[in-house]
Amino acid sequence: MTTIPLLQIALDYTSLPKALVMASLTAPEVDIIEIGTPLCKAAGLDAIRAMREICPDKLILADFKTPDVGGLEATMAFDAGADMITVIGGAALATVEQAYSVAQKRGKIMLMELTGVRDIVARATEWRRIGIDRIVYHREWDAQSAGREWAEEDKVTIRKLIDMGYKVTITGGLTIDLLPFFADIPATVLICGRGIREAPDPRAAARQMRLAIAEIWGGASSSAPTARVISPTADVAAKAIRWGISEMGLSLTIDGCECPGCNSPQRFCHGSRTDIRIPSGVDSQQFIRQLFENIGHGESQAAGMGPPGSFYLDVGALSQLNQNNILGLLSATSVALQKVGHTTNTRAAMTVAHDILSQ
Ligand code: 5RP
Repeated sequence: MTTIPLLQIALDYTSLPKALVMASLTAPEVDIIEIGTPLCKAAGLDAIRAMREICPDKLILADFKTPDVGGLEATMAFDAGADMITVIGGAALATVEQAYSVAQKRGKIMLMELTGVRDIVARATEWRRIGIDRIVYHREWDAQSAGREWAEEDKVTIRKLIDMGYKVTITGGLTIDLLPFFADIPATVLICGRGIREAPDPRAAARQMRLAIAEIWGGASSSAPTARVISPTADVAAKAIRWGISEMGLSLTIDGCECPGCNSPQRFCHGSRTDIRIPSGVDSQQFIRQLFENIGHGESQAAGMGPPGSFYLDVGALSQLNQNNILGLLSATSVALQKVGHTTNTRAAMTVAHDILSQ
């Protein structure tokens, strides 16, 4: 029986708000969301918790590439909401055993990451002896940028691993064009990061990738839709922000009054700017500092302090009016509020905003 490999998106970001935007855009089209190693380092367990909130029904993999203290790191990742973790191939066998034992006890998944391992079959033989059955076969980023291409000998090694009983994940600069090269390999998971994230429409790119996988491994004929880049008007963008903000439980404000909402003829908000009340109990200075940090220099004109007790988001000041940037403002706001101790519903905010932007 042929199994169709699952599709995993790798979120190799250093900014959690950016990663949350990409997760909410692509989650419906992928099977596994990977918190990439740079994101694990930049945002740590907060990234796992936030991703779990945004994608409650998806498998979440924390690409820790754990080198030591395997039991503790596995426990931390699973406690925060991850379903899967990776351990680096160079780790001591004791580390592998400890991480694996935690995964087994918790009913979770641990994968060995082959980055940097030279004697792949020898190490994989050792790991099999202690029960490990999942492995990530990797063409590393740096090796790739130094010119390493996928080759037949990679497939020879992958086949050996499969014959040893491993479920193999393949990764490293995968694109739709590269999929046919792996067509004769019964891979379990295929990871794609930049190939999806850097596409003009990442959700459409993920959908196309998944359809291509189903076609190649499952024989299903499919007509992949062509990517459509959605360019919202400033009006629609501002509406997406306002509805998203309301879903977060925040109030829109003008001169201290609350707006009755976008669909009301009495609505206050027109134009591209939205003024938002800072929730009581939140330290305004700390919140704004955090908001700017999340938004980054490139978009710093798109947010600021409003009248006392409020801040504003202005889609008209974004460098480019696209889905990513608009959802980025919402995600940056939500992550900033959570950083200063105020709970918000990021998922609901992103969902409603995305729906408005997709109409
Ligand atoms: C880097 C990684 C990446 O997540 C993996 O290589 C997938 O990313 P891409 O598809 O962009 O190459 O683990 O170490």
